[in-house]
Amino acid sequence: MEKKEIQYILGIESSCDDTGVAVVGAHANGEFTVVSNILATQNHEVTGGVVPEVAARHHAQNIIPTIEKALAEAKMTIDDIDAIAVTKGPGLIACLLVGVETAKTIATIKNIPLLGVNHMAAHIASTFVEHPHIAFPAICLLASGGHTMLVGMEKKESYHLIGTTRDDAAGEAFDKVAKMLGLPYPGGPHISALATMGDKEKYHFPRPMIDSPDFDFSFAGLKTSVLYHIRDQKAISPISEQEKKDIAASFQESIVAVLVKKTIAAAKQQNAKTIILGGGVSANRALQERLQEIGAKEMPDTKVIIPSPGLFTDNGAMIAVAAAPRVLRGEYDNITDIEVNPKLRLAV
Ligand code: KG4
Ligand code: ZN
Repeated sequence: MEKKEIQYILGIESSCDDTGVAVVGAHANGEFTVVSNILATQNHEVTGGVVPEVAARHHAQNIIPTIEKALAEAKMTIDDIDAIAVTKGPGLIACLLVGVETAKTIATIKNIPLLGVNHMAAHIASTFVEHPHIAFPAICLLASGGHTMLVGMEKKESYHLIGTTRDDAAGEAFDKVAKMLGLPYPGGPHISALATMGDKEKYHFPRPMIDSPDFDFSFAGLKTSVLYHIRDQKAISPISEQEKKDIAASFQESIVAVLVKKTIAAAKQQNAKTIILGGGVSANRALQERLQEIGAKEMPDTKVIIPSPGLFTDNGAMIAVAAAPRVLRGEYDNITDIEVNPKLRLAV
């Protein structure tokens, strides 16, 4: 059969709280066109965070309408789709199952090839939409609600773990500090908005493991230090709006300083030609700007790339893009072999 110039991939994401479905055109030359990218976000007003049972029900209710919307916006039907890509892990098991079982059902009924995708590989792949041909070796800082890790890549689709968090993930720390300040879930965007109006030098919160010789992270102590600071301050007088902004800015400064210093150190050690930022925390402007600034100063020949807006946090397009090289090679999974794995690893 003659290979088509563009393969249309339906990407399905349901590993955490948001249901994402996209149609992505994968071109034979390795480039991409995001034709549609629809997100059904969950309302956290009642739960105040992700509750697996509630999130799974949200996916079950939204997955078919979201697939329909993604196809409608692409002006396509399911018969125009060449392959389906679905997140098989890591994530919440009940949530992953909704995506995987839906994808398996559609793939079986419509006889469409199916591919299981690693969610963290997909966060890296979200940068390939605008930068499909990057220089290797690359260092990826992946910072999300569940993970914080430094991953090395010698070439596309090859990953090795350089460092990881020993306790809380960076996004988790943002979410917990936001909660302490009475901000809604997810807290990252609220903290970063407040931080723009605060003084980042006001409080010196710890920068855990910033000078350790390894590439691991630890954010639990930082979170606790902010908690004690808020508790002590509240004992004297209620926290003012300006104090909240200063706490947000100072806390964010600690996280950004650690993430950037370790990423640059790892990039130097690995002689990286490219530094990739991925995961929900990559939406943070202060992190993006600092990494670009320090990267340009300390490694001028190394390019720092950041996902396009809309592709930072979980979405269906990154799942399709992650599967694209395999789709273009015709390397599909056996439908019955795809199993969800909440602890699926990207690299060892
Ligand atoms: O990758 P993601 O969408 O979901 C997971 O796979 O976990 O990441 C969500 C995380 C949340 O912890 C959220 O607070 C954080 O990303 N986040 C941010 C920002 N936007 C989202 N953290 C810091 N600054 C932001 N602007
Ligand atoms: Zn994610």
